[in-house]
Amino acid sequence: MAKRILTVSSGKGGVGKSTFAVNFSLALARVAPTVLVDLDTGTSSVRNTIDVPVHKDLYHFFRKGEPLEACLTTLPDQVDPHGHFRNFAFVAAPKHAMEEFINFEEMHRYRLMRAINDLPARFVVLDLRAGLDAAVLDFLPHSNSGILVFTPHHPAATAAAGDIVKALIFRKLRLVLSEEGPLAKDRETRSHLATINALLDKVEDVYDDSLPNLDVFLKDLLLALGEVPAVRALAETVASFHVHFVLNLFNGIRESYEKAIVPFVTFLQRYVSSHLKLYNLGWIIQSAEIHEANCRRRPIVLDGPSESDHAATRLKLDDLEALLLGSPSTTHPVVTKDFLLEVNPEQALVEQLEVLHAMQQESAARHVRDNFAYILRRALHALQTFPAESFGQRRLLTPLELFESLAGQTLTP
Ligand SMILES: Nc1ncnc2c1ncn2[C@@H]1O[C@H](COP(=O)(O)OP(=O)(O)OP(=O)(O)O)[C@@H](O)[C@H]1O
Ligand SMILES: [Mg+2]
Repeated sequence: MAKRILTVSSGKGGVGKSTFAVNFSLALARVAPTVLVDLDTGTSSVRNTIDVPVHKDLYHFFRKGEPLEACLTTLPDQVDPHGHFRNFAFVAAPKHAMEEFINFEEMHRYRLMRAINDLPARFVVLDLRAGLDAAVLDFLPHSNSGILVFTPHHPAATAAAGDIVKALIFRKLRLVLSEEGPLAKDRETRSHLATINALLDKVEDVYDDSLPNLDVFLKDLLLALGEVPAVRALAETVASFHVHFVLNLFNGIRESYEKAIVPFVTFLQRYVSSHLKLYNLGWIIQSAEIHEANCRRRPIVLDGPSESDHAATRLKLDDLEALLLGSPSTTHPVVTKDFLLEVNPEQALVEQLEVLHAMQQESAARHVRDNFAYILRRALHALQTFPAESFGQRRLLTPLELFESLAGQTLTP
């Protein structure tokens, strides 16, 4: 049975990850069984925004050896009187911060990853904590950004979201380029790997201006080596990387565009690549109602939206299976030579502005909780349209499993 694991991350704290993760999971649960896992094991925020008794949480999973499935909390009838959210469950983080769970060790982490893969759900949403250490990175996808949350109010949060993209794509490139990786099988390619890796170090290092981003790097490689398998594999990795984001605390197109979209897109173009695929999932307006709902511990989506909205997203089981499997991988190979062309940086910004205007047309004069229904529709569209590896993950892979899956793969013919 196919499932999709979607991470919610931001790098920076306090931008609305948990608010989004909780409400989005509730919205997803109207479509199919959904489990939200609170991986912010330092602040246990999910249990603080939903007023239900938690009998077992990650403490029991880690310390008492309970299966993760036994640590699910569902909504009782008082909270969900119409039974609209029977398909929703969450795994709460431990009640109080405990060092061993905040920075859980690899062994704990991999056990949790395997348990998440085995959860009986079609959608799993992971609410990650701020920061970008191994306990966060290991849960993030390898070929896309998962869902990033940022806001026009915190410039540092926009930069942090850009840093996540950068970290993920470099992690993938390092694996592709590793001396034991798929490319090393070819003798001629193997002879170039050390040089290419050294150049990649320069791209990653923002204090070194000699190679500012992956586009310049790939252009240089193409000119030096031609379209050899290594260069094609790197171009493919970059050009197929999808970035999905949600704008929280939205306060109008102009401000969000100037304070969030422009810095984000410019950061990626400058330090990563202009070839990434950017997909805005939607916005959540800044609203006292959202905050009050959190404080009352009754997430805003629990009280709406209307039935008709749900009907629009209800899927037949067959459709769901197809949706979770994703569309087949792109049949058009990446045109490596594209990296030789100058990309017009303005074009991506114009496109993003157009998306914002289209969103406004589609959602004008609606209640804030409809923001989540809208994002849900965009997310389902993304699941349906893009290959599975472009949005979230079908299962979490430990670094070793990932390496094995890559090593077994021939990246280019
Ligand atoms: N759209 C919104 N409108 C108004 N208030 C919001 C909105 N989104 C979030 N908030 C408020 O902002 C604060 C931070 O939100 P939240 O806890 O969801 O962020 P976070 O990114 O998960 O934080 P942390 O990094 O601490 O986990 C909360 O008080 C929440 O109620
Ligand atoms: Mg949080």
